[in-house]
Amino acid sequence: WAIYAPYVKAINDLKAQRNAVILGHNYMTPEIYHGVSDFVGDSLQLAIKATEVEADVIVQCGVHFMAETSKILSPEKTVLMPDMEAGCSLAESITAEGIAEMRRRYPGAPVVSYVNTTAEVKAASDICCTSSNAAQIVAAQDNHTVIMTPDQYLAQNVARDVPQKNVVWWEGSCIVHEQYSPQDLRDFREWNPGTRLIAHPECPPDVVAEADYSGSTSGIIKYVTDEKPEKALLITECSMASNIADQLPEVEFVGPCNMCPYMKKITLEKVLFALDTMTGQVEVDAEVAEKARLSVQRMIDLSR
Ligand code: 13P
Ligand code: SF4
Repeated sequence: WAIYAPYVKAINDLKAQRNAVILGHNYMTPEIYHGVSDFVGDSLQLAIKATEVEADVIVQCGVHFMAETSKILSPEKTVLMPDMEAGCSLAESITAEGIAEMRRRYPGAPVVSYVNTTAEVKAASDICCTSSNAAQIVAAQDNHTVIMTPDQYLAQNVARDVPQKNVVWWEGSCIVHEQYSPQDLRDFREWNPGTRLIAHPECPPDVVAEADYSGSTSGIIKYVTDEKPEKALLITECSMASNIADQLPEVEFVGPCNMCPYMKKITLEKVLFALDTMTGQVEVDAEVAEKARLSVQRMIDLSR
């Protein structure tokens, strides 16, 4: 921590000076998560927080689509992205034309897009979802056929949980979670018996089927906090276990894990630079933002 202390102090001083808040996703490194974030959480919690905070500036410690979501929900605020290159394989997998193509393929079916999408894709969709409310949002649609984009695996996991709907999907995937195979989990159980296996729903359904629990990043934290298993393997991004290990000394977090190269682009140095120079301001075209806001707001209203 000693090497981080000067950055943490400088960032926290600048936050006060600029009336800024830092929203940190659960995949941030511990020095960002514990050192400088004012609010931490999963994608849904951070989106809701963006509608509630009273600061003039939001620094989004997460990936670009999260910063866009904050800007869409709080257009009057300055939203800073410490590294504009912090993208997401899911957000990059589909454009608004992809949504139009799905609508042509399934006429009349509503489009539920994961928040891991650009503002243009959100604007072209009917409603958004996150991993913590996807099943609930799909179940609430009037139509029997529901289009889910862009995460094929989240969609397949939802299709299993909401059998009354005909869920169809776009073929995107998360480069962190698609790497796991069901054999990895079986091998791990054999090698380290008694370990609780906890998977994010961006993992393929056959991986989720081998796990003891599946949920969003906040769902995973809640599960481990409530259950306090002796040993836990989090089948998700590496920082998750690092961020909660100190609060749960009774749980032994065991590896391996996969790193998200996009999330890891956010560093204390870049956060300090962004706040100091006010660079990395995220802008969303007003017309696109207005349509995208409707999709995100519909999701938030259904999730409360
Ligand atoms: P949640 O935090 O909503 O579970 O999302 C995980 C993720 O991959 C965000 O990029
Ligand atoms: Fe995108 Fe996956 Fe990284 Fe999340 S973990 S930002 S879904 S690539």
